[in-house]
Amino acid sequence: MTFPYSDKVLEHFRHPRNVGKIENPDGNAMEGSPACGDMVGVHIKVDPKTKRITDIKFESYGCASNIATGSIITELAKGKTIEEAKKISWKEASEALGGLPPIKAHCSVLAVEGLRSAIQNYEERHGLVKDQKPTTVEVVRGRLKKVMNPLSGLDLVRTELVKDITVDKGTVHITVDIPADHQFASNIKDEIMEKIGPLWDVKKVEVVFTE
Ligand code: FES
Repeated sequence: MTFPYSDKVLEHFRHPRNVGKIENPDGNAMEGSPACGDMVGVHIKVDPKTKRITDIKFESYGCASNIATGSIITELAKGKTIEEAKKISWKEASEALGGLPPIKAHCSVLAVEGLRSAIQNYEERHGLVKDQKPTTVEVVRGRLKKVMNPLSGLDLVRTELVKDITVDKGTVHITVDIPADHQFASNIKDEIMEKIGPLWDVKKVEVVFTE
C-alpha cells in the first residue's frame, strides 16, 4: 500500500520526538480542530532570563499528519526564544516534513496553533503580554471556541452550550447550558478556567450551569 505521506512524515509518525507532558510547565495549551474534532496539547518550559524554550512536549489526539507535525514543531522550537518560536509557521513545519497532502493542512495548522497558544499562555501567566487589550465578551467567546464539548467533539460555542457571558470589573461570568451534575460538567469548568483565567485583566472566573 502506498501512503500519501513523505518518508519524513512517516518517520516522525512512527517515532515521534518529545511526546508527553511536562511537570509544572511554564506554558501549556490544548487546541482542537473545528475541521475534524482532533486535538493537540503543547507544554513548554522557558528560561526566565533568556526567554528560550528549554523543554517542549506534545500530546496528539489526531491523525498521522498531526502527530508528525507535533513532533517536528517540538524540534523546531526547542532552543529558540519565544519570539523566534512564535514565527514558526505551518508552512515551515510542512516543509520540514517534506510536504503534507493539501487535505491535511489543517492538521499541521493545529499543531502550530498549539505551540503559539502555549507561548501565549506563558506570556499571560508571566505578565508579558505587550498588547494588553481589555477583555470583552467577544474575547471570552473567542476563547470558548477552543473549549471542546466532549459530547460532540466540537467546541462549546459552536454546539451552543454557552448560554450567557458577562464581563464586569475583572469578573467573567459564564453560564453553560448543561446540568451541574452532568458527567462532563467539571471537565468543562476546568477547561474554561484554564482558558479564561490567564487573561491579564481577569481577576475572577465564575462558571455556572443551568440546572
Ligand atoms: Fe484531525 Fe488530522 S484529521 S488532526
